[in-house]
Amino acid sequence: MSVLIKNGRIITATDDYVADIFIDDETVKFIGKNLLVNADKEIDATDKFVFPGGIDPHVHLDMPFMGTFSSDNYETGTRAALFGGTTMVIDFILQKQGNSLRAALEEWQGRSNSNCVGDYSFHMAVTDFNENTKKEIQEMIEKEGITSFKTFMAYKGALMIDDRQMMGLMQEVKKHGGLINVHATNGDMIDFLITKHKSEGQFSPLYHYLSQPEVTEAEASGRFADMANYTGCPGYIVHMTCEGALNAVRNATKRNQKIFAETCIQYLLLDASLYEKDFEGAKWVMSPPLREKKDQTNLWAGINQGLIQVVATDHCPFKWEQKLMGKDDFSKIPNGHPAIENRMELLFSEGVVKNKITLNKYVEVACTNPAKIFGMFPQKGTIAVGSDADIVIFDPKEKHTLSAKTHHMNVDYSGYEGWEVTGKVKTVLLRGQVAIENNQCHIEKGFGKFIKRKKVSQTI
Ligand code: URP
Ligand code: ZN
Ligand code: ZN
Repeated sequence: MSVLIKNGRIITATDDYVADIFIDDETVKFIGKNLLVNADKEIDATDKFVFPGGIDPHVHLDMPFMGTFSSDNYETGTRAALFGGTTMVIDFILQKQGNSLRAALEEWQGRSNSNCVGDYSFHMAVTDFNENTKKEIQEMIEKEGITSFKTFMAYKGALMIDDRQMMGLMQEVKKHGGLINVHATNGDMIDFLITKHKSEGQFSPLYHYLSQPEVTEAEASGRFADMANYTGCPGYIVHMTCEGALNAVRNATKRNQKIFAETCIQYLLLDASLYEKDFEGAKWVMSPPLREKKDQTNLWAGINQGLIQVVATDHCPFKWEQKLMGKDDFSKIPNGHPAIENRMELLFSEGVVKNKITLNKYVEVACTNPAKIFGMFPQKGTIAVGSDADIVIFDPKEKHTLSAKTHHMNVDYSGYEGWEVTGKVKTVLLRGQVAIENNQCHIEKGFGKFIKRKKVSQTI
C-alpha cells in the first residue's frame, strides 16, 4: 500500500521543514513540496509534527525475573509502544548461568517469534562469561545480528558478573565489532546494604532506595569506563540516574574516551520522595532507584551537553499483585516500572514544551541515536529517502491525561496517573503500514519484524 503524508512539519535530528512524504514498499520513496503522486491513502498532516518512529532500546517483555515474569508480553508491550509512538524496541535476552547464549536466544525466540506487533531486536545479556560463551560472541554478531551485549555489575547471585569476566567479554566483543551495555551499580555494596537494612528491621520500599545510594552507581560507572578505556571496547551505560554517574562519563571524556549513556524518562521526571508513600512506593521500586531533584537537573544538562545520548524507559512492568510479593520485604519486590507507551509524549511535554530540550534534540535522543548506537541507522531512526517508513504524526497542541484506565500496557496502575501532557501521538506508520489511527491499532501480532543489526563499528 502506498501512502502520501501531506504538508506535515518534518522534524529529524538535524532538520525542520514542511513537505510531503511519499511511501511505498515499506520505505520512504520521495520527500518534497506539493508532491504530485497518486497514493492508495492520503493523510493530511497540516499543523502536525512528523517524527521518525521512536526507538526504545531498553525494554523487558515477558521476562523471567525475581520469581515472576514482567507483565507485558511481546504482543501487549509492542502494541502499547506503538500507541505511544515507539515503532521499535530492543529487549533483553538473559543467559542462564551455566547455559549457552544459543539456548537463551532460542528460549527468547520461543516467546517473541510471531508475537510482536512492532519491530524489535535483542541485546544479549551475558551472565556467565567463560571459554564456551566466548566462542559464541562472533556468531551472535555476524549470524544473528545481535551486536550488543548486556552486563550486570549488580543483582549479586543472579545476573552479576565480576570484573574478570567483564574484561574477557570486552576483549572479545571489541574484536568482533560489538558494544557492551552495562547496568552499572556496585552489586557488593548493594548486597551489603540490603542485608544491613533487613537486619535492622527495615523492610519498606524506602529501604530499596536507601540500599542503592548514588555512590554505588557512581563507583561502578567509573569502574566500567576504566575497563572500557583499557580494553578499547565501546561501552554504553544503561539507565543512568545521577550526577555522580554522569561525572564518571564526564571524566572519561577528559582522556578522550567516548562512553555512551542512556537515561530513562522516569529519572528525568520522578524523584525519591515517592518512596515515602509506604507500600505504594513499590510502584516505583526499580534499579537503580529514583533519585533527587538535583540529579534531574544534571541529567537534563547531560542530554544537552551530549554526554547522555539516549532517553529510554527500562520498561519492566509488574502488576500490583506481583509487587505485593515484597509486601513484607523490599528486596522481594519485583524491580521495574511501566513506561513504554508514555516515553515519547512525556519527553515532548516535559522536555520540548517546557524548553528543556529542542525539537531536534528530542528526535535525536528518542529516535536517531538509538538507531546509530545500536547499528540500525539509516534504516531506522530518521525520515529520509530509502529509510523504513516508520513515522509518527503528532499533534503538538492536544492535551490529555495519562491513566491506567486508558493506557494499553498490561499493568493495572500507571507510574504517571493523572499527569497532564501536551502533545499526542495521532497516527503511526510502521514500515509504511498504518499501525495506529483514531486511537485504534490496525496491525496484528506477527507484523513486527526482528531487525538484524549491523556491527556497531559500522555506524558509530
Ligand atoms: O528495575 C529494573 N530496572 N528492572 C529491570 C532490570 C534492570 O535492571 O534493568
Ligand atoms: Zn538494569
Ligand atoms: Zn533494564
